[in-house]
Amino acid sequence: MMFKQFFEPESSTYTYLLGCEHTNEAVLIDPVASEVEHYTQALDEHGLTLVYTLDTHVHADHVTAANALRNKFGSKSILHRNSGVDCGDIFITDRSAIRIGNFLIEARYTPGHTNACTSYVIDGMVFTGDALLIDGCGRTDFQEGNPATLYESIHQQLFSLPDDTIVYPGHDYKGRLSSTIGQEKQSNARLGHHRSKAEFIEMMNNLNLPYPKKIDIALPANKACGQ
Ligand code: FE2
Repeated sequence: MMFKQFFEPESSTYTYLLGCEHTNEAVLIDPVASEVEHYTQALDEHGLTLVYTLDTHVHADHVTAANALRNKFGSKSILHRNSGVDCGDIFITDRSAIRIGNFLIEARYTPGHTNACTSYVIDGMVFTGDALLIDGCGRTDFQEGNPATLYESIHQQLFSLPDDTIVYPGHDYKGRLSSTIGQEKQSNARLGHHRSKAEFIEMMNNLNLPYPKKIDIALPANKACGQ
């Protein structure tokens, strides 16, 4: 499988390109509107055809490139059916399978940061969006966030994966590229060390985070697939 990780510095967002060498079909997970030229270059360089864009959730901090890429390449936009977005092409639910050439991507519903968060499992890797971050997790104080739900999602849907599964998050603010399920289970600052659900809820409800900078622009734009 062809794999490439992109970084958008303004919102510290990671985007992932996955391609099948046999059929040249490719997907982008969480593409950012300002970065379309970089994706185009990578697709050209590897002779790949973009088939799908997958958004792990309706983002509050950047605008999705789903619409721009659909216009440019005819790719289909995939989102969870709880996303409240009606311009997507395919709406998925827990354990939906998405075929890319010779690979199957499994969707795992991981709500709690938002009510549409989905992680994607493929070939020993999991793309966790803003549910599980490296040494952290997504905030739970807006977009239908709920710490109890997030705790259950992470424990049932992500910590149940093999320990050596590579975790690729939706963001990292310290330059880290990836982690593993084993590492996060053991030492994640919010969810590791066998932290109980009650302790997690208490901590998440007392983070007192600032209002997200771009939410008033990004949310309406993303509900229109980035238009
Ligand atoms: Fe988010």
